[in-house]
Amino acid sequence: MRKNIVAGNWKMNKTLQEGLALAKELDAALKGRTVNCDVIIGTPFIHLASIAAAIDTTRIGVAAENCADKESGAYTGEVSATMVASTGARYVIIGHSERRAYYHETSPILMEKVKLALANGLTPIFCVGEVLAEREAGTHFEVVARQVEEALFGLKKEDFGKIVLAYEPVWAIGTGRTATADQAQEMHAHIRQIVAARYGEEVAADCSILYGGSCNGENAKELFSRPDVDGGLIGGASLSVEKFMPIIEAF
Ligand code: PGA
Repeated sequence: MRKNIVAGNWKMNKTLQEGLALAKELDAALKGRTVNCDVIIGTPFIHLASIAAAIDTTRIGVAAENCADKESGAYTGEVSATMVASTGARYVIIGHSERRAYYHETSPILMEKVKLALANGLTPIFCVGEVLAEREAGTHFEVVARQVEEALFGLKKEDFGKIVLAYEPVWAIGTGRTATADQAQEMHAHIRQIVAARYGEEVAADCSILYGGSCNGENAKELFSRPDVDGGLIGGASLSVEKFMPIIEAF
């Protein structure tokens, strides 16, 4: 089912103690409050188990920011989808542009990660988005279509239906330069159309597509008001309750 979702992505920030304190503060702030979206926090691997144990995970879903493209074995330093699931996390961010750019994660690698996440009962939050040069060259629609097709269109219909998508134009991430609500809506509608062409209108209509890139308490309401924008993937503004809460309340 299509849902409104506000998901934080802490990236490589916060010690375990700081992260735990932030998660508890958010949990307390949401307690007894009715919000019109699902709330998720994406945290570094080492935080997952402690946070999942310390908060009400029916109120706040916990997400890993990545998982391995291999099931298990001699892959020093990697963390498998099975391990992520064993912490109590229910989501995993896959294909973030920082993983693509700095750790050379290509579509075939991301496809493996998505399959392993699904096999372990995790909901992938799959990220796509063009870089500035691609937008300026007018190739952004093609680029994003290719990212979705290459990594996800091998999935069966029922598996695709379990995925959350996030459109994050790379030029908007951490730059303070947000996409306009029109730009977001236009791309989200495009993505939904591609999904409809492959999996049918029903699957496309049910798919939650989040916007990410300098989303904050000031611009969230306008972005979320667009028909194909089902929420946000939030980096910088998810690092404090004060900044994150207004985004949750934008719904
Ligand atoms: P930002 O990051 O909100 O800090 O721009 C978004 C993201 O990378 O998910």
